[in-house]
Amino acid sequence: MPTSRNIFVPSGARVPAHWRKEVKRILITEREIARRLVEISRQIERDFARREMVVVSLLNGTVMFLADLIRNLSLPLRLDFIGVSSYGAGTESGELVFTKELRLDVRGRDVLLVDDILDTGKTLYRVLGKLRALKPRRIKTCVLLNKAQRRVENVEADYIGFEIPDYFVVGYGLDFAERYRNLPFVGVLHEEIYKEACKRINPPPSRKKKKRKKR
Ligand code: PRP
Repeated sequence: MPTSRNIFVPSGARVPAHWRKEVKRILITEREIARRLVEISRQIERDFARREMVVVSLLNGTVMFLADLIRNLSLPLRLDFIGVSSYGAGTESGELVFTKELRLDVRGRDVLLVDDILDTGKTLYRVLGKLRALKPRRIKTCVLLNKAQRRVENVEADYIGFEIPDYFVVGYGLDFAERYRNLPFVGVLHEEIYKEACKRINPPPSRKKKKRKKR
């Protein structure tokens, strides 16, 4: 069962001056993330006690979350990655493409699947299908962020950092057009940043020329 169902309420921290042009507000601060990661790690340690687990992390968005999460885990573990990306235009997820396959053998193993955000659920659903076919002993899923209201596939995570509303969020590994992954917090972009970029990717259709009436 998911660990939390309460939508996270931002503390109203100020956006650092050098990000203010692009980032409208901070949704989750570095400190709030760190605190929550300690809580999640303790739950994972309890659930995975006395067994070596394989942590499977999805590239690229998990880069910061994964590093901080496993630093908090006092458990024997092995680490591997699956590369998966939804090549959609702008802010919507599109077709899934696998860019890196798993190398470790997970048959009979306890797997912790880590992703940064659970949105429509298409990514996790596909990856879970792939992993289950490899016959692990069990799979638990862990995501930093959950946008439950956007769900399309019937999939839930076992460990959730924060339940968030349907904002387009960046930072702490999450990107927009591969930018902003390096923000140490989870923030919300000014709308014009992504609306402009989306227009460049998907220009509005040009108007059809009106036919001249025959006289
Ligand atoms: C993002 C994110 C999740 C996925 C969630 O990946 O990292 O894996 O989308 O969306 P979903 O629940 O709607 O499938 P993205 O394809 O943007 O690649 P990235 O990790 O490289 O940013």
